[in-house]
Amino acid sequence: GRTPLILAVETSCDETSAAVVRGGREILSNVISSQAAIHKRFGGVVPEVASRRHVENVTRVIEEALEQAQVTLQDVSAIAVTYGPGLVGALLVGIAAAKAIAYACSIPLIGVQHIAGHIYANVLSDGVEPPLLALVVSGGHTEIVYMQSHDHFEFLGRTRDDAVGEAYDKVARAMGLEYPGGPILDRLAQEGDPNAIEFPRAWLEEGSFDFSFSGLKSAVLNALHNAEQRGDVLRKEDVATGFQASVVDVLVEKTVGAVKKTGVKKVVVAGGVAANQGLRTRLTARAAEEGFRVTFPPLSLCTDNAAMIAAAAFPLYARGEFHGLELNAIANLSI
Ligand code: KG4
Ligand code: ZN
Repeated sequence: GRTPLILAVETSCDETSAAVVRGGREILSNVISSQAAIHKRFGGVVPEVASRRHVENVTRVIEEALEQAQVTLQDVSAIAVTYGPGLVGALLVGIAAAKAIAYACSIPLIGVQHIAGHIYANVLSDGVEPPLLALVVSGGHTEIVYMQSHDHFEFLGRTRDDAVGEAYDKVARAMGLEYPGGPILDRLAQEGDPNAIEFPRAWLEEGSFDFSFSGLKSAVLNALHNAEQRGDVLRKEDVATGFQASVVDVLVEKTVGAVKKTGVKKVVVAGGVAANQGLRTRLTARAAEEGFRVTFPPLSLCTDNAAMIAAAAFPLYARGEFHGLELNAIANLSI
């Protein structure tokens, strides 16, 4: 038969996105309508505002994705949608839209786990051939996932408090920078003095692949506060450099440790923080030293988007793993 076309919808947080992907990896369209400018005013995502915006945008975004791909709903083989984890009100908007299309066009509905979506963003750059490890780093997640096969995922470690992107955003906010602060701190970190400020690293217990970023966040806030008390101002570039060095050190060395423990030969990085230049440079260098492969999604596919949801849906489609119209949003859906 002809190569399957998957239409996917993603509304788990503050991006309304729809994409058409052919054969699991050829992106025909990937429309992303970001609400970041709206949430900027509040310094973070306001769930109620996000849901309302998704309702206003979702139909137009889906129509645009079909139009840019130059296909119609009649050409689509299946509709995929993120059903968790995420904000329930936001997820429900995408799910309702996907169900309506599945029902009206009599095509299969495929619910996709959001983190699996981030992992499969790597299909679109290189490949996701298990066994491998995924370092998932986003505004809501910091996890090392062992992917044994396309239907077997296992958490080796996760954050015990803040997610790494969340730590970036909170530190940036305390420094008076805009939301989302991750990309801004990443840019500043390229320009600071690496010897100016040293922040602690949370290694936790010997052999643990868990993370903790709240102590580091507090250390940065204390340093800013203490400097202010002294009537001193720390250079933003130096704070960013010290903070990023601490984050990257822990992310990279725990990932290397997990590679050694599992014996896998490949690591894929996923989530918004996969765009981080410091992380890309350090992990690539360590992978070369230790003899494993590391891939990052293209920058445009690191943050939330529907193309990665379509890519993750493809193996489910191939196995005939569909959902019924009773599919519901699950805020804390595990992988
Ligand atoms: O994956 P994502 O779009 O949304 C979630 O599912 O959380 O990730 C967004 C997060 C934000 O916290 C943002 O500050 C962070 O990714 N981020 C970065 C960079 N680009 C985005 N953090 C550090 N360095 C970056 N270059
Ligand atoms: Zn995400």
